[in-house]
Formats: sequence, structure tokens, C-alpha cells
Amino acid sequence: MKLQAALKISEERRELNPSLTELLSVLKDQIPKKSIIETPGGIIGRADVLKFLRAIPDGSIDLIATDPPYSGMNQHLLLGKGRIVGKYKDRGDGGKWFEEFHDTPENYHAFLTECRRVLKKDSAIFLMFDSYSLLTLGAFIREFFDVKNIVVWDKVSIGMGHYFRRQSEFIVYATKGKRPLVSRAIPDIWRIKRLVRSPYPTQKPVELFQAMIGSVFERGKCANKTVLDPFFGSGSSLLAAMRHGCGYIGCDVSEKAIALCKDRLKNFADHDLDVMQSMSAVPEQVSGMKKWW
Ligand SMILES: C[S@@+](CC[C@H](N)C(=O)[O-])C[C@H]1O[C@@H](n2cnc3c(N)ncnc32)[C@H](O)[C@@H]1O
Repeated sequence: MKLQAALKISEERRELNPSLTELLSVLKDQIPKKSIIETPGGIIGRADVLKFLRAIPDGSIDLIATDPPYSGMNQHLLLGKGRIVGKYKDRGDGGKWFEEFHDTPENYHAFLTECRRVLKKDSAIFLMFDSYSLLTLGAFIREFFDVKNIVVWDKVSIGMGHYFRRQSEFIVYATKGKRPLVSRAIPDIWRIKRLVRSPYPTQKPVELFQAMIGSVFERGKCANKTVLDPFFGSGSSLLAAMRHGCGYIGCDVSEKAIALCKDRLKNFADHDLDVMQSMSAVPEQVSGMKKWW
């Protein structure tokens, strides 16, 4: 009986919801077919973020939850100049180089324009920032969405940093129309442990995205909803959507991200196993936080 129940879950996780079935055929017309991959219950693509978003029809997405690359801090502190993602010999999509997304005001305007366009009426976006990019870019969100609040992600342990070592990042919650949260009791500080020595360099805990998705949709009641992450990296957001029972779609330029994420999603669907995060990032004794997701 247990095995049968597990197999049923696995079957359900494999199906695309009707919006994703439509999206799959639209994307295959606009982006090289080999770059679009159907995964259990969702779609991932290897593409530049703006190119991918521009291929998605208006009003197709219910929630965006994403963690864009933060190059601003490095550029402003003159610690680096950004980089090209990928090696010369693995030139990607149609032989073009993939450029890393730079968080400049121009790029943010283009990005937020597309995010608003692809979202349905009465939908929402969670957008992550570090302290510097929140100051420089956060205010632009108001031009496109109704900003409802900023959540502090408390990573529990201290990290690197000049003047006050960093223990936090920020998540802006904004809506297109009305999208109330599932409960009025969700706090604006989330204590979720950072990952150390994770398989993907900027990998975030899957619980961080479960907390986002679970603030907006009830678990197990969102099979017809589609969550988008256009910078999925290791796929923590997409796995969170799958765990929550939602449909999902995402893209990333990195070949490594595609390979790791594809394997991660398949393992979870087949064996209920997260091969990239073995431990919970929300141990009760550390967080003292009551989970709402
Ligand atoms: C901060 S990381 C996301 C990490 C992810 N949240 C996780 O938990 O693993 C940002 C991602 O954006 C991707 N990226 C950078 N430039 C991009 C572009 N132009 N289009 C799409 N993805 C891009 C990078 O490859 C990287 O995986």
C-alpha cells in the first residue's frame, strides 16, 4: 500500500499542468529544441533570461520566485568585472556566447518589464537582493509592481563582509493586482541556515523557496499553478515548487546548472530524495520558527 501511494505521488509529479503543456510547445517553437527539457512536472531551459522570458506568452505565470546574480556589489567595490558564463569551446545556443546577467538599472528595467508581462492578473513575485543591490535596484520594483514588504533572510551563521559581516539577504514581495498571503501570521524574518560547501556555488536552501511558495499557495492545492524561476541555478526553487505540488518552469544559462537541476528533479520525483541538500536547513532547535509551508 505504501509503495502504491509513493508510486502515485511519483506519477502525479510527472504530469505537466495544462498551462505548462501549452508553454512547452510555444517554447519549442522559439528556442532551440535541444535547450528545452521536460522534467517531472515542469520545464527547464538553457537560455538567456531575457530571451527565455520574451518567449513566454502574456499572462502565463502565477508566481515568480527568483534569486538573480548579484554582480553590482563586486563591480562597485571594484572586486571584479563580471564574467562570461561557460567556456569558449562550449559555445551554447546557436553558437553564441551566453552573457552573465548584470544587475544594471537598464537590465533590471528590461527584466522587470518581462516579469510583469508574463505574470497573470492577481499574481506575485519574490525577488532576492543583497544589501547593496537592494539599495541600488530595489526601488525600481515599484515602477512595475505593488511592493508589499521586504523579508529578511537570517542565515543563522555569519558570513564574509566589510563593515558588519553579512548574515542576511533580502526578499522583496510584490504583487500584480491582489495576491494576499495564505496566512496573516507569517513573520518578516526567516531563520533558515545558509548552505556550506554546496554542490552549486550560489545554491540556496530549498526551504527558503518553500517558505516563499508556501506563503502564497497552500501545499497540495497548486497543481494548476505555475511557478517561474528564470535564474534557477541548482534548482532549489523548482524542487520547492515540486515538493509543494505546483507546476514549475525555469531557465539558466549555465550548462552545469541544467545538468545538476535535471538530475536533482528526477531523483526527487523517482526516489523522494534531494541529492543536492541532504540536511534540513530549518532545524527546530536553531530556528525556533514555526513552519507555514
Ligand atoms: C544566484 S544564482 C541562483 C542560485 C539558485 N537560486 C540556487 O539556489 O541554486 C544566479 C544564476 O543565474 C544564472 N545566470 C546568470 N546570467 C544569466 C542569464 N543571462 N540568463 C539566465 N541565467 C543566468 C547563473 O548561471 C546562476 O545559476
